[in-house]
Amino acid sequence: MTAYSHLFTPIQIGSMKVKNRIFMAPMSTHLANSEGHITEELLTYYEARAKGGASFITVASVLVDRLSRYGTFRNLGLYEDGQISELRRLTDCLHKYGTKVGAQLLHPSTAALSQYNEGCQPVAASPVEARAYPELPRALTCEEIHHFVRLFGEAARRAKEAGFDAVELHCCHRHGLLGNFLSPLHNKRIDEYGGGVDGRLKMPLEVIAEVRKQVGDDFPMVVRMSATDAEPDGQSLIEGIYIARQFEKAGVSLIHLSNGSLDIPWKTTAPSGIPQAFNMDLADTIRRAIHIPLGIVGRINEPWVADMVLEQKKADVVYIGRAFICDPEFPNKAFAGEENQIRPCIGCLRCLETVNGDGSICCTMNPRAGRELQLSNEPKYCKKRKLLIVGGGPAGLSAAAAAAELGYAVTLTERADRLGGQMYLAAFPPCKHDVAKGTKYLVERARIMGVKIELNSSMTKEKIMLAGFDGVILTTGAEPILPKSLMNDSRVVSAQNALEGKCRIGKNVVVVGGGPVGCEIADFLAHPHFDGSANGRKVTIVEMDPILEKEEKTAARALLMERLIKKNCTILTGARVQSVSGTELIYVKDGQRKQLSGIDTIVSAIGTRADDTLACQLREAGIPVRNVTGTTNILKAVTDGFDAAYQIFAEMAGSPSTNES
Ligand SMILES: Cc1cc2nc3c(=O)[nH]c(=O)nc-3n(C[C@H](O)[C@H](O)[C@H](O)COP(=O)(O)O)c2cc1C
Ligand code: SF4
Repeated sequence: MTAYSHLFTPIQIGSMKVKNRIFMAPMSTHLANSEGHITEELLTYYEARAKGGASFITVASVLVDRLSRYGTFRNLGLYEDGQISELRRLTDCLHKYGTKVGAQLLHPSTAALSQYNEGCQPVAASPVEARAYPELPRALTCEEIHHFVRLFGEAARRAKEAGFDAVELHCCHRHGLLGNFLSPLHNKRIDEYGGGVDGRLKMPLEVIAEVRKQVGDDFPMVVRMSATDAEPDGQSLIEGIYIARQFEKAGVSLIHLSNGSLDIPWKTTAPSGIPQAFNMDLADTIRRAIHIPLGIVGRINEPWVADMVLEQKKADVVYIGRAFICDPEFPNKAFAGEENQIRPCIGCLRCLETVNGDGSICCTMNPRAGRELQLSNEPKYCKKRKLLIVGGGPAGLSAAAAAAELGYAVTLTERADRLGGQMYLAAFPPCKHDVAKGTKYLVERARIMGVKIELNSSMTKEKIMLAGFDGVILTTGAEPILPKSLMNDSRVVSAQNALEGKCRIGKNVVVVGGGPVGCEIADFLAHPHFDGSANGRKVTIVEMDPILEKEEKTAARALLMERLIKKNCTILTGARVQSVSGTELIYVKDGQRKQLSGIDTIVSAIGTRADDTLACQLREAGIPVRNVTGTTNILKAVTDGFDAAYQIFAEMAGSPSTNES
């Protein structure tokens, strides 16, 4: 028996019976090789999710046209018969676990940039650029449209021959050729393929008919669509209902419902702060208008949420994306009632940022994601070896759990009276609460793995040597830097102390530094609703660079900026603090000295500096040591901590343990 009876009820999709209702959403991995061929890494990545209990896996972004590579060369394709046998390896592998497999067929349209496609200009309904892909596409002629319709049909036929149980047509997010034709924001045509919703639907419906012709009436066909474009003058909900109905009439087996578009990515792949299952009401509306099953996607991260969506009859299946990157065993753990052991997705979007930047899939909370093959040849246990981890932040906790898994007897010492380091504080600003779930998981994981934890404990070389550790991983993080101009002023506090409530914050605050920490602390300190009253806190950010958070590429940035503006924060970019005196701060902008007056508190958020003294001392003493420094974000901290455990294991292999009897 399971507590999640709705999730673990089989479902019939056309001719396909699926064992449970947890479907894996399509997510590009960039684990194919540079010629677009399948790799062992890709097979192992998907296999881990099938083994973990996914009932249906959608293999993402399978291209229907050779010259439509999407942000990289490393996409799979079904545009040649030669590709059938290699994708057959993937479907055979996933079928071993009773998992059904769908191929998401895509022509990326505006995203198929010429740099990846032998100089060919992207094609679209109309010459309208997508903000996310800065290259002007050219409009297809009607003859060309017929050609692309055929390409989809042929790819579907190959998918069936390769052993896929279904195809999914990507008609979503005003992305890809079909999503592009559907959206009034992109499709400005005045011929039969444009105008009102019927014109915009013509190409997707022709593709559906062609696919049916190629795969037969019984073969399950999923259409992924957006309920709305979520933008002014975009596809409306009433159109969404109509579109879903036309897809049903055309013979589609399942609607996979998302919302919004790639140009407003916080609506499609939403960051933390957006409620779980946020597409629920849209799904409910569309589901009531159709008679075929509907799947919902969007921040469904916990089994109780997924089960409740089904129990409330908002959808027939749940598509889970990032929670599967984080924990391939999500379904099995949910079924077994081990939900507390599911590694939580913290909605940080580093996975998508990396893939969009042409990297391969990775995850802040799961250092194995995308590296399943590499880490499957795990080293042998190193029983009796004593390893010390100094520092109880994300890097230390991650290193400790990994080292304990490798068989070390692990002690973790932390100078403070709590664990979590900077990650604990990262959950304090608005829309960051998911980080607390992540920190809690890392702490629990270390405990479950038997790590001995000592708080309020500072380590020195002498103490370490006396305790007889075989090796040490240092993850002591870094101390906040105070700029010279701000030193010795009693009004100046560090961002860390301000977040943790260790100091009083006045009404008129200046935050020095407009990177992620500075912007988030401004968001934290500014009162949620600015009404100009005497009680409101005035927050000013002073940043040297011309823009705030210039390195941040995730969708969370746009929402943070929107909140800062709504809260009436003053943003001074291209401005350098020169001096502070009394309640005045002098800064230079555009070569001119300017002044902020009446300041109560100055929060310094200009960065941190690591100290490697202990690492040098231990190395001199001949103790195997790894120093995890430069961990600029949680992804890097967790991954580097994890890797340090493996590296020190490799370094120590062969050397005798001081504790060997
Ligand atoms: C790394 C990554 C890659 C993605 N790639 C695709 C893709 O190739 N095709 C697609 O339709 N959606 C893609 N998506 C969107 C997901 O299918 C899904 O809609 C989104 O992540 C929201 O679901 P979630 O909140 O459960 O993660 C991707 C998302 C992520 C995080
Ligand atoms: S990188 Fe962040 S958002 Fe992506 S799956 Fe991992 S925890 Fe979730």
